Amino acid sequence: MAESVPKLTVGETLRSIGRILAGRPHVPPALAGNELLRIILDRRSLRRFASRPLGEDVFSAILEAGRLAPSTVNLQSWTFMSFTAESWQSTFGRAIPFEAQRGVIVCGDAHRYRAALETFPRSPLVEYTIAVTNASLAAMNMSIAAEALGVASVMLSETGRSGLLDVGYLKEELHLPEGVFPLMTIVFGYPGTAPPPMPPKLPLDEICFADGKYHETDPDVLREWMAQMTAGYKAMRPLSSFDSQLAIYESKIGQAEEDLTEMVFGRGANEAE
Ligand SMILES: Cc1cc2nc3c(=O)[nH]c(=O)nc-3n(C[C@H](O)[C@H](O)[C@H](O)COP(=O)(O)O)c2cc1C
Repeated sequence: MAESVPKLTVGETLRSIGRILAGRPHVPPALAGNELLRIILDRRSLRRFASRPLGEDVFSAILEAGRLAPSTVNLQSWTFMSFTAESWQSTFGRAIPFEAQRGVIVCGDAHRYRAALETFPRSPLVEYTIAVTNASLAAMNMSIAAEALGVASVMLSETGRSGLLDVGYLKEELHLPEGVFPLMTIVFGYPGTAPPPMPPKLPLDEICFADGKYHETDPDVLREWMAQMTAGYKAMRPLSSFDSQLAIYESKIGQAEEDLTEMVFGRGANEAE
């Protein structure tokens, strides 16, 4: 049975933080010098950006990496709503998160290809899933391209009416047609701080199976993971906690579920049996 977030003693907190700090990517020494691999493995979500402006050429290269991402049947089922700090402020009446220089709201888009391709089978859930998959790949391409150009980023689902949990609000605000749904915001900027330590990542042998069978995760590994998540949150955000982060999700997820159900399955879907 799933357990709740653990309450840690000071000793347990310190031990967990020690383990986070000791976490490193595992790469065979012969491959450690590969530049792209290093960029992928060293990428960290950053939540403090410098005031140094991001040039138009740099930002358009990041968007280009999104445009060229792979997609199912090359459907390119995504839309990027792009913002400067100023246009974010004027659109949403609030500051861009973390004083970033640029933001992109990445949307799944099962609307555009319809105008060109009537014959793609209609299936709201499959089309939604395809669009989510493709748009997420584009998002990751942008994030990695940014990293390669020395630009940091963080993807957001809940910060200040800008992500997946704000679907209803964003649909209105951004005039999104039927079949277009916001998935996440990515904000970009030059790093305003050193990268944080690698957050606790599950060991490869708990998430990758080579014997053709799924295996339940070792409960001790799960407990250790949650202990590190709890301790790591406290260390990074002393005024917040992993618990309060989960509470934000709990408070917003019901409305988001309703809004998304309506977006994917159409008006009235929430009333259906
Ligand atoms: C789709 C998505 C949504 C996320 N939403 C948030 C968010 O709302 N707020 C936040 O601070 N971080 C958010 N993150 C960043 C994650 O917390 C972060 O990726 C995770 O802790 C792992 O850290 P890393 O990116 O440094 O490996 C999000 C990441 C993804 C992929």
